[in-house]
Amino acid sequence: MDNFFSEGDRVWLREDDQYQPSTVSSCSGGVVVFATDYGQVYTYKQNALTRQKVQPMHHSSIRGVEDMAVLEDLHDGAIMHNLHLRYQQRHIYTYIGSILAAVNPYQTLPGLYERPAVELYSRHHLGEISPHIFAVANECYRSLWKRLQNQCVLISGESGAGKTESTKLILRFLSAMSQHSQEALSKDRTSHVEEALLESSPIMEAFGNAKTVYNNNSSRFGKFVQ
Ligand SMILES: Nc1ncnc2c1ncn2[C@@H]1O[C@H](COP(=O)(O)OP(=O)(O)OP(=O)(O)O)[C@@H](O)[C@H]1O
Ligand SMILES: [Mg+2]
Repeated sequence: MDNFFSEGDRVWLREDDQYQPSTVSSCSGGVVVFATDYGQVYTYKQNALTRQKVQPMHHSSIRGVEDMAVLEDLHDGAIMHNLHLRYQQRHIYTYIGSILAAVNPYQTLPGLYERPAVELYSRHHLGEISPHIFAVANECYRSLWKRLQNQCVLISGESGAGKTESTKLILRFLSAMSQHSQEALSKDRTSHVEEALLESSPIMEAFGNAKTVYNNNSSRFGKFVQ
């Protein structure tokens, strides 16, 4: 491989069948030393390196992107690295086109779900501003009105990933939006129904949830809310 490296180059090193984000920590005498972001160090003779083994890291992966559809490095290592980069900057949401990836922060992030956030996302289409679960809820709400057809959000992930919390956040957004439109018409019982729906959630969870190794508040059976 007539490749050459410089100290500080960002690359993908394929080790243990995974592309690992790495930095060239030294390159001299035909020997290259790579330090992965996960703490391992690998030393190779430069002429033993193939394009399979080491690939340059594109700029989009180095700086991180809001929508992973524009990532130039196409492997799961790049996706994990991008989510990690964003998580370090306290951005828990990232798009993959119109799909939203959420990383559970296991802590309350100030302002993320407050009233101003509801207002902001209600005024923008998905993708216009930074990724958020409210953008997905808003797209659903808009489509409901536009197409006059039922809409569906599919939430998937391992135990403790944040599916139940995401569901509650979508309900919170929809409730706020429909209260808005009711206030504009006349105040009737509808807004109370939505409040009651939200308030019933902890009661339903008290019956339906249990502590597991993955989640102190794990949903043990499904519930249907209409
Ligand atoms: N967006 C979030 N912000 C802050 N904390 C969160 C968020 N999402 C999840 N959590 C925390 O993680 C915990 C687990 O999340 P949740 O109960 O939603 O997981 P789940 O995917 O429904 O898991 P299970 O499949 O076991 O029911 C929550 O009780 C909450 O403390
Ligand atoms: Mg759950």
